[in-house]
Amino acid sequence: MSVTLRPMTHDDLPAVMKVERETFPLDAWSEGMLRGELDDQPRTRHYVVAVVGEEIVGYAGLYAAGDQADVQTIAVSEGHRRAGIGGAMLTELLAEAVRRGATSVFLEVRADNPEAQAVYDRFGFERIGLRRRYYEDGTDAIMMRKDLNA
Ligand SMILES: CC(C)(COP(=O)(O)OP(=O)(O)OC[C@H]1O[C@@H](n2cnc3c(N)ncnc32)[C@H](O)[C@@H]1OP(=O)(O)O)[C@@H](O)C(=O)NCCC(=O)NCCS
Repeated sequence: MSVTLRPMTHDDLPAVMKVERETFPLDAWSEGMLRGELDDQPRTRHYVVAVVGEEIVGYAGLYAAGDQADVQTIAVSEGHRRAGIGGAMLTELLAEAVRRGATSVFLEVRADNPEAQAVYDRFGFERIGLRRRYYEDGTDAIMMRKDLNA
């Protein structure tokens, strides 16, 4: 399986929204929210899609301003997980954060999402705090940070 990463464009939004709705059925972003993110590229955002053949199987986005960056979102469609695609996209976001002069990257992850936490642990993110009942269903958010100078 050959995977290509490339910048996300507005034309990708329908395919990206399909993965978004399947991945986050309870709290999917709207297409308008995602379009707003793309509208702010390349000033403060960097969004990529992962493509297998003609199909968009994943996407991820970074917010970067000053010396800090945030992983805004990352998702891989269910049938393509554990194949290195999420890791490849995260590697690209971290590289972009470095290119833009960030020294730290932050993110929030649901406390009940061990799969994503495993990816972030693997990439050297550290737990720095908890936002209790951060999500609408009452689940806590774990706040994580990766120091890019380390
Ligand atoms: C999180 C997510 C994007 C990871 O994508 P992925 O393509 O499956 O990740 P990778 O295959 O690159 O995995 C990288 C490493 O993370 C760890 N990892 C990933 N999924 C894991 C799992 N289910 N259990 C344990 N470790 C896991 C492993 O160390 C893995 O490396 P390995 O397969 O060589 O052991 C994917 O699981 C996903 O879309 N989940 C639903 C959406 C989501 O939770 N997004 C994050 C919101 S904060």
